Amino acid sequence: MATDAGDAMPRFPAGFLWGVSTSAHQIEGAAGEREASVWDVFTAEPGRVKDGSTAAVACDHYHRYREDVALLAGLGVDAYRFSVSWPRVNSPGGLDFYDRLVDELCAAGVRPVPTLFHWDLPASLDWLRRDTAARFADYVSVVAGRLGDRVGTWITLNEPAEHTLLGHALGAHAPGRRLLFDALPVAHHQLLAHGLAVQALRAAGAGDIGIANSHGPTWAASGEPADLEAAGFYDTLLNRLFAEPILLGAYPDGLGELMPGDVAADLKVIAEPVDWYGVNYYAPTRVGAPGGADAEYGGLALPAELPFSVREIEGRPVTGFGWPVVPEGLTELLTTFRDRYGDRLPPVVITENGCSYEGLDDQDRIAYLDAHIRALHAALEAGVDVRGYFVWSLMDNFEWAEGCAQRFGLVHVDYETLERTPKASYHWFRDVLRAQR
Ligand code: FCB
Repeated sequence: MATDAGDAMPRFPAGFLWGVSTSAHQIEGAAGEREASVWDVFTAEPGRVKDGSTAAVACDHYHRYREDVALLAGLGVDAYRFSVSWPRVNSPGGLDFYDRLVDELCAAGVRPVPTLFHWDLPASLDWLRRDTAARFADYVSVVAGRLGDRVGTWITLNEPAEHTLLGHALGAHAPGRRLLFDALPVAHHQLLAHGLAVQALRAAGAGDIGIANSHGPTWAASGEPADLEAAGFYDTLLNRLFAEPILLGAYPDGLGELMPGDVAADLKVIAEPVDWYGVNYYAPTRVGAPGGADAEYGGLALPAELPFSVREIEGRPVTGFGWPVVPEGLTELLTTFRDRYGDRLPPVVITENGCSYEGLDDQDRIAYLDAHIRALHAALEAGVDVRGYFVWSLMDNFEWAEGCAQRFGLVHVDYETLERTPKASYHWFRDVLRAQR
């Protein structure tokens, strides 16, 4: 990979927020101490998780959070993005855990940045039902009421695009439905839930609110009209469907006509202003007309009836997951968003970026992060207002349908002993942060 890893990292503006991310279901464990989520149900079905592992224990962060906050403090991050588990908040003593975690973070001088929904929906609920959005707002009010005196920065949802696509359209994630385009109401109800959550957080006095959406450049397989059309469609699904209702108060390309309920009224709620816009970036996607697939979508063969297919991005190194390493895709994505949305785009925070690789001496992860942080700096220099960068992830964790097989952490977790061991990338990132001070 072309990298300048030896050169000094360019300086980011004063006040730039450096952090790492995790999510509740992927690290907490202690599944017996909360009600079930859709992910517990899905994982229990044979064949759903590739290596057969479950998140019942995961990293046991629920019992070891003090050790993990000490790792954050040692790393020297400004902020920690974690998620609050709705099923845990519904369970006795659940909110007490987040209360203790937030206290521990504050005592360590690390800003808590909770995500209120990171895919672990209570098993009794369903995003196909509109009522779930209202229930989400009620839950958000409860969490904000308890933590709002110490938490200033909030994230409503994580990647509603992936939760809709993988969970409800393709069936690769919980709740395992294969509805294809009949999954669109799930998108609308999550967007509505986002807007209602922004209102609930404002009512509780919160002033720094964003969402974490997954985005990446879409590259057409060729200049042929059929490939361009397919790529445009994919770009609408990944990059516009979840951004434009929030930023512009409108669905792209007539998709609003396919959504349930009083869409015009709902869009007013969905477009409730946010303070910043979170982007999770991993890689671009090369997309062509249907039928020509030569690559998988994140490890998944797409059904032939979709109006696009995914092609290989050639000539690039790939991560352990097989994802191509394309740092300049991050610059391209951010400048494209700035050009598309102008001053409707609030300041941007990279809420996730990272890679899966094996090993403690993870020079490949260092090269990946180094190149992506430089690509982010290039976006800043091109005039994009970027305010923060969070590495996915603090530690190895339960990687959804991949189980424990994909390791994204700066810290290695031994799933037998639960011992944490900082990798070379942990020490490297600590040094990058020190040099920025
Ligand atoms: C993102 C998810 C996160 C993690 C990374 C690798 O799509 O938000 O939980 O799984 O991918």
